[in-house]
Amino acid sequence: MITADTAFGVDCAPEDVLTVDPVDLAEKWTRRAEGMSPLLMALATAGVDGYPRVRHVLLTEIAGGALYFHTDSRSDKVAELTAAPRACLSIPWPADSRQLCVVGDVRGADDAELRSAYDARSRYLKLLAWLNDAEHAGLPPTVRHERWADFDAGHPSLEPPPTWTGFAVIPREFTFWRGDPDGPSQRVRFRRATPCEEWNAQILPG
Ligand SMILES: Cc1cc2nc3c(=O)[nH]c(=O)nc-3n(C[C@H](O)[C@H](O)[C@H](O)COP(=O)(O)O)c2cc1C
Repeated sequence: MITADTAFGVDCAPEDVLTVDPVDLAEKWTRRAEGMSPLLMALATAGVDGYPRVRHVLLTEIAGGALYFHTDSRSDKVAELTAAPRACLSIPWPADSRQLCVVGDVRGADDAELRSAYDARSRYLKLLAWLNDAEHAGLPPTVRHERWADFDAGHPSLEPPPTWTGFAVIPREFTFWRGDPDGPSQRVRFRRATPCEEWNAQILPG
């Protein structure tokens, strides 16, 4: 049963959710226990041909009010974000009947953030960042596995590859959706045109 206190995961009456800082609420919804794998989020970009593109990436962190993800500089999404530095993210929690959508402007992560994000990746993901390229993709599985094992054995510690890159999504819109087994679903949307502005919040039907 969803009560007033738990409606959006904040300790307040439903109408008071409009006064909540959406960055704090997003941090609360996305918080992971130590050792848990990062959350997966859909990342939508404007394709260079004008058609939208969507794929899933890991949410590395929320820091300084921005949501960070990391990728390969040769990937389509990087070309798309370079041409149109705007993105939409969506994270579903079907078991908890929740969804968070974020729209924002995108800028490249700085060197310190790139480095700490790489260092925090699992060994598998560090290796993947080195070996996930067009040359390896086209090889037969046995050769790919041999190359992987050789590279792994030859590199006990790993630096970020030159293709390692990452982005910050600076939110201009957060939409928190929650289902309710006893009634209609509901959203709360926070909007602002620039990071200097106050958030403008609105309760919406689901
Ligand atoms: C569970 C899962 C996690 C993924 N995490 C990432 C990620 O953090 N970064 C990334 O670049 N791609 C990640 N991918 C792969 C992307 O979905 C995508 O295939 C790849 O980045 C190429 O996308 P693009 O050609 O649109 O740039 C992940 C895929 C899955 C299924």
